Amino acid sequence: MHLGVIGCGKMGSALIQGAINAKILQPSTVFGYDKIIAASESFAAATGASICSSLEELSQSCDTFLLATKPYDVAAVLKNLAASRGDRPALVISIAAGITLASLESYLPKSIRVIRTMPNTPALVGKGASAFAVGERATADDANAAEKLLSSVGLALQVPEKLLDAVTGLSGSGPAYGFLIIEALADAGVRHGLPRQDAIRLAAQTMLGAATMVLETSLHPAQLKDMVTSPGGTTIEGLAALEKNGVRHALIEAVSAATHRSIELSKI
Ligand SMILES: NC(=O)c1ccc[n+]([C@@H]2O[C@H](COP(=O)([O-])OP(=O)(O)OC[C@H]3O[C@@H](n4cnc5c(N)ncnc54)[C@H](O)[C@@H]3O)[C@@H](O)[C@H]2O)c1
Repeated sequence: MHLGVIGCGKMGSALIQGAINAKILQPSTVFGYDKIIAASESFAAATGASICSSLEELSQSCDTFLLATKPYDVAAVLKNLAASRGDRPALVISIAAGITLASLESYLPKSIRVIRTMPNTPALVGKGASAFAVGERATADDANAAEKLLSSVGLALQVPEKLLDAVTGLSGSGPAYGFLIIEALADAGVRHGLPRQDAIRLAAQTMLGAATMVLETSLHPAQLKDMVTSPGGTTIEGLAALEKNGVRHALIEAVSAATHRSIELSKI
């Protein structure tokens, strides 16, 4: 596989760096093109990949493409890709938020298969959570290729496309919820006398530890919560305060609101 990265910004670079570090890709098989030369050059410096000076050149050098431009640039890029590929087969893996498989496929000839993914920003530090859906023409090998690429920077799950809005509301938007929770916990620590930096580090490491226990033990979060909640102890007092203030409901509403917004945006 020769992989062409269209749009060498934050996410395109993070995914390729992850895949190269995980030895899923060799730098010699990766090519990048960005309309901003400085972006292509930073990408090449960070990954060891080659750069192309035009989309046409990239299109000639590769058989698989990671589409990593902003959503509003997608239509123009795919029309150019379609024109330069002719009827030669290719796979396009899109990370553009909210652009549906039907829309991606509408710009491309039938010879080009499509996969749509929703990564999140912790991919930048190798701790992403992403999901992907396959287009009508994509094969099982294509799904494996997407899974390998995305799982090199974290968790990657295949879902039906109709669930990608829920994925956007949960893991796509979720890092911001995590940042807010960590900030609030740290504020509380400061309120009770902890220095700010210590409070932030303790809060972040505690969330990381809780998340790691969920992933590594496969126990239900409620079981893990019960295991650390002693009768008459401190934790049950904290939990009672969270429930009284509707934190569980607030998080459910946050994911629902972001999911609905994702549905709205994909109709624009
Ligand atoms: N950053 C995130 O948290 C995140 C999460 C999920 C999905 N995404 C998706 O990832 C995509 C990229 O986001 P990003 O944050 O990396 O953006 P970015 O701005 O860092 O990178 C986009 C790059 O595309 C380049 N570009 C624009 N038009 C081009 C063209 N015609 N040809 C070649 N290159 C072109 C830009 O110059 C830029 O370098 C977006 O579609 C976004 O929806 C991002």
